[in-house]
Amino acid sequence: MKRIVSVLMVALLLTSFSQLKAQQTNDAKMKSFVDALMKKMTLEEKIGQLNLPGSGDIVTGQAQSSDIAKKIKEGKVGGLFNIKSVAKIRDVQKVAVEQSRLKIPLIFGMDVIHGYETVFPIPLGLSCSWDMKLIENSARIAAVEASADGINWTFSPMVDIARDPRWGRIAEGNGEDAFLGSQIAKAMVKGYQGNDLKTNNTIMACVKHYALYGAAEAGRDYNTTDMSHQRMYNDYFPPYKAAVDAGAGSVMASFNEIDGVPATANKWLLTDVLRKQWGFKGFLVTDYTGINEMIDHGIGDLQTVSARALMAGIDMDMVGEGILLTTQKSLKEGKVTLAQIDAACRRILEAKYKLGLFDDPYKYCDENRAKTEVFTAEHRQIARSTAAQSFVLLKNQNNVLPLKKSGTIALIGPLADNKENMPGTWSVAANFDKATSVLTGLREVVGDKVKILHARGSNLDEDSLFEERAGMFGKSLRRDSRPAHMILQEALDVANQSDVIVAALGESAEMSGESSSRSNIEIPKIQQDLLKALLKTGKPVVLVLFTGRPLVLKWENDNVPAILNVWFGGSEAGYAIADVLFGNVNPSGKLSTTFPQNVGQVPIFYNHKNTGRPLEEGKWFSKFRSNYLDVSNDPVYPFGYGLSYTSFSYSDIKLSNTALKGKQTLTASVTVTNTGKYDGKEVVQLYIRDVVGSVTRPVKELKGFQKVELKAGETKTVSFSITPEDLKFYNYDLKYDWEAGDFEIMIGSNSRDVKTGKVNWTK
Ligand code: BGC
Repeated sequence: MKRIVSVLMVALLLTSFSQLKAQQTNDAKMKSFVDALMKKMTLEEKIGQLNLPGSGDIVTGQAQSSDIAKKIKEGKVGGLFNIKSVAKIRDVQKVAVEQSRLKIPLIFGMDVIHGYETVFPIPLGLSCSWDMKLIENSARIAAVEASADGINWTFSPMVDIARDPRWGRIAEGNGEDAFLGSQIAKAMVKGYQGNDLKTNNTIMACVKHYALYGAAEAGRDYNTTDMSHQRMYNDYFPPYKAAVDAGAGSVMASFNEIDGVPATANKWLLTDVLRKQWGFKGFLVTDYTGINEMIDHGIGDLQTVSARALMAGIDMDMVGEGILLTTQKSLKEGKVTLAQIDAACRRILEAKYKLGLFDDPYKYCDENRAKTEVFTAEHRQIARSTAAQSFVLLKNQNNVLPLKKSGTIALIGPLADNKENMPGTWSVAANFDKATSVLTGLREVVGDKVKILHARGSNLDEDSLFEERAGMFGKSLRRDSRPAHMILQEALDVANQSDVIVAALGESAEMSGESSSRSNIEIPKIQQDLLKALLKTGKPVVLVLFTGRPLVLKWENDNVPAILNVWFGGSEAGYAIADVLFGNVNPSGKLSTTFPQNVGQVPIFYNHKNTGRPLEEGKWFSKFRSNYLDVSNDPVYPFGYGLSYTSFSYSDIKLSNTALKGKQTLTASVTVTNTGKYDGKEVVQLYIRDVVGSVTRPVKELKGFQKVELKAGETKTVSFSITPEDLKFYNYDLKYDWEAGDFEIMIGSNSRDVKTGKVNWTK
């Protein structure tokens, strides 16, 4: 056995050695190629590579004559983004490689955020699957489709930690936890980039928004962030770093300021941390007009801010053209260096080299692939089952769910028959016509077995102007102009004929996402009124909740028998919702964000500090303790929470050892039993508390999880191996290390309900 192990070890070492050698040869080849090319480039052409103008969607056949084409011919464009279709992309690429002096191909980016034409759930939803293979595969499919349609660079993954549900872009990220967020960051990068960027069905990832964008003050988009470096390193940086470690080819700077300097010009952030500490080798792009916006941030005119961005480490300027317009002057005046321009240009050329664009600029322009690999039946099937895994069952009193496949269902609500809103925010490449509504999904999944009646019940919101703002980018809400009481009465008539009511309510797709912050995070009042009226009929009500953020659901949780949170499930959402409602799929999603009782508790997150005056256990108020007069500290639903149609019981925790030393491994396990009637999946979660530290430590931190499948009645032992690596954190001096002492080891089905054991670990 020992012999086999050592032979295997040697084989492994040899493989990694030969991989390293191959990598070195590739790097050397790339270097000499780029060296030779850069020798031929004028200063203007080098600066041109740093330019990523906004092109709008170019019309096929017009590329030659557009303003953009003129710039491309002059070598003033490095890439373009959000152009859809091989035909259009080929047209513009042709201008670059046939009519510009050095024939340098363009890079084509797009916001491929949660799928391409086959749309997967919004990232916040996807994160609730806690299934890294599933998530990686969603990015893989997105890459296959996008690359088949001409795209080679995606502005994803978005890995901003967010603890404030007022912030609309919480929808685009993976929730509040750095550990879960880091696993997802890795999975996404791997899914997009695969093992080899040179193949034609992988695309370059762009990790965004670096950094701390999700910590905008008051949850207002683009607002200032300000936090301690300890919090940055421990709670907000890890997912960006994980994506960089996974080899992400590019990074996007965020709009917000950090320590008083906008991220786009923050040299400490972009160069010292990203490049020097983390070893990032790819290129850095600004966000949309990120450079120009620094004029309003108040740090200088266009020339100053462009020079500051470049000198801080930015390589590519999205849309604003500040770098294009001012860099020659700045060079003459000594405000930027040639070395910095060269370094930025080199990184852009290297990205194009890595993508294989110099070998074949039309590598991603295969019309045949575009016809056969986009929105395929197979991809849609995977998107459908993925969506079902993202749903979180929040409540299921008296097992209202799953629904019987007989009788009459009243499907009510402004989102019941609205396919446009199913893909959710940031679905740039989606074809809304091809998405499936809940009504269609229900009807197709149960056929004639169930009579499905439908009525709208209410508009999304009373205020038509609000509704307009919440229905952007073609996601129409088809507002009903009849008086509200008529729309409601029609729904009640339908409801009264049914055995069970399914209320499809919540947010529209664009009520979350960019520039969609809300100060009131409840379901809009008119829909709450509808819900109350439906409950008054006395029929069982299932709330199918659409949302891009944690909502305040206090009233709903107290009064509605069943709540299934379906986020925005993507192009196949309607089918997936039907699959889960009828029990063809047992829900297993677990929240990746905390759901507050009211907006006054925000920011609320599970891994908070204890404070010097924590509330005593079992109490909800105590004078001179850290709490509120009017509401307990508890959330409505904690991080990690989610129900199933079956039930799971947890044994006490078993620890292999309670006194550990040095690099020993601790095994912590529980047995989990499926005590209900359905087969199901459970996400078993491991949390650790570092009881005493040189700095204060969170009350618990997620350190592991396993999604296990259990047949009805089945028991499984779930074990976690814990080493000092899992105990490390950034201390006061920002040194990443662990400290000896007592630790609480917790395993449970969410961050609140855990079984606890204690260990002591010495150095
Ligand atoms: C967003 C980015 C996005 C970019 C390009 C910006 O407004 O903040 O997330 O990638 O636009 O579309």
